[in-house]
Amino acid sequence: MCGIVAYTGSRPALPVLLSGLKRLEYRGYDSAGIAVETPDAIAIRKAKGKVSELVNLLGENNSLESSTCGIAHTRWATHGPPTTENAHPHAGGKNNIALVHNGIIENHRALRAKLTAAGYTFLSETDTEVLAHLVDSLYQGNLVEAVTTALKEVEGTFGIAAMAHAEPGTLVVARRGSPIVLGLGEKETIVASDASAIIKHTRQAIYLDDNDIAIIKGSEVDIRTLDAGSVSRQTSEIDWSSDAAEKGGYEHYMLKEIFEQPEAICNTLRGRLDSNRGNALLSGLNLSPRELADLHRVLIVGCGTSMNAGLVGEYAIEDFAGVLAEVEQAAEFRYRNPIVNPSDLVVAISQSGETADTLAAVREAIDKGALVSGLVNTVGSTIARETGRGVYLHAGPEISVASTKAFTSQVSVLLMMALKFARSRRMSRESGCQMIREIEAIPGLVQQVLDQNDAIAKVAERYLDQTSTFFIGRGYMYPVALEGALKLKEISYIHAEGYHAAELKHGPIALLEETVPVIALCNDGPGKDKTLGNVAECQARDSRVLGIVTEGDTEAIATVDDHIAVPACPLYTAVVPSTVALQLLSYHIARLKGCAIDQPRNLAKSVTVE
Ligand code: AGP
Repeated sequence: MCGIVAYTGSRPALPVLLSGLKRLEYRGYDSAGIAVETPDAIAIRKAKGKVSELVNLLGENNSLESSTCGIAHTRWATHGPPTTENAHPHAGGKNNIALVHNGIIENHRALRAKLTAAGYTFLSETDTEVLAHLVDSLYQGNLVEAVTTALKEVEGTFGIAAMAHAEPGTLVVARRGSPIVLGLGEKETIVASDASAIIKHTRQAIYLDDNDIAIIKGSEVDIRTLDAGSVSRQTSEIDWSSDAAEKGGYEHYMLKEIFEQPEAICNTLRGRLDSNRGNALLSGLNLSPRELADLHRVLIVGCGTSMNAGLVGEYAIEDFAGVLAEVEQAAEFRYRNPIVNPSDLVVAISQSGETADTLAAVREAIDKGALVSGLVNTVGSTIARETGRGVYLHAGPEISVASTKAFTSQVSVLLMMALKFARSRRMSRESGCQMIREIEAIPGLVQQVLDQNDAIAKVAERYLDQTSTFFIGRGYMYPVALEGALKLKEISYIHAEGYHAAELKHGPIALLEETVPVIALCNDGPGKDKTLGNVAECQARDSRVLGIVTEGDTEAIATVDDHIAVPACPLYTAVVPSTVALQLLSYHIARLKGCAIDQPRNLAKSVTVE
């Protein structure tokens, strides 16, 4: 999704802006642009395609190099196709103002009509150009006043950075719904929509709240709200290293992140399991023993991979704690007017903490009076802040668009939640201790799958040519089938669907033939025999079946055509190594097909529009 970088300080702005844009490439985008001050005017340069196209356009000895203030953007098209004209920054008036924007201005049509009537000419189809002209129309020598008044007229979401030719060295930035973080340097401030663009320069950061507007000049920062005067916002320390955001020698971020999972899960579990009491701590949930005991229902909301992890949570919470649990697509939550009771706990799961649909569900749940908690990876993100209570994943930055380590950390937290809820009700201390041992074994189980990377790459060679694939599983392996299919389709562009193994014969089986393979989760445990029966049904329709099987399970190995073995463990923990096996399978299929693994077409890392 779109990315913002802006700079004001004492050194040349251009290298900071361009390296920041490069850092934001992982988010997904289709054009890029910069605007910097020059003595005569604000200079704007934009290019369709990658940041490298913009760098080529600027050339080596360009005349903009001495400028010490500027704004930059990577755009992911919403209003109007990905063209140079639609790329940001957009100028207001006759280049008096320049502005970059993430989010959507919902009343842009009405505002465009009003500004056209006032004599403004539009060069793009974007809602952002509307905002730039609106600011210009209100500008009387004070940028922060013009932006404040303009944003009060705007309906929708925004994270913006603006500059005015008449106010050199000054940036005005604001947010409602789209994140903005200020990186505080010695004689400079670097603004970005994502901390990964600033960690090269500073670790001191201020995250703006919704409806905050900041005026920044060099290292001077004045934060106000759109409705009132100055406010103070806490400075936080960014605790992940610059190295963590690099590929670390791997061919792709996705592979690096797959291999980081044993460590990421250890970080997720660290300090949260009490082997003496056989319980999980999770103090961030901030639930009193009374609230825990009174818990009527756990409602889990999320999108994509986060929702798939939520389904594992639903199964585990009902299984171990006997507490009613439901998972729901976050986008649906606020539109169908769900029943939510004050004794319900709503758990919002999100790697980024910025997903618009999940955030909307959080706000709906808060309005309905539920206890709301966030299960989030990105510290300081909007969902983390608005829920106020929750559990950070501590999985480290996830750069690849395809989510991997976030899923396995999310599942790890959900299993700990199941343990905590179970211990507050019907689970004995001994059973709690046993569950802790099983959860603590997960990183080692994952490592055993990673050790088979080369063998999995070989298996992948046999699954390159299909255009369609089905993933099947039952019980705890059903969410794994959904996640396996999501991973394969997003990075390899092979059509893939996850189905409950029993559901296949209620329709999809009509599509099976020699060219449509099936990937079956046949882990040893309850339901395995039934899934092996489903495998036979697929083979009878000429589909080749790749089984994820339990190590040493000769029956399953003899039934399927190819297999990847995962270590023996209870099914609820087998979710994690089995998913890792499918992550590697998808990765190798996509790699062998030559796909853009870290930035798949049409996808964005963080979906901040509904
Ligand atoms: C996962 O591989 C996807 N790219 C996507 O489904 C993602 O999980 C979804 O957009 C939710 O993102 P979040 O966890 O940041 O809220």
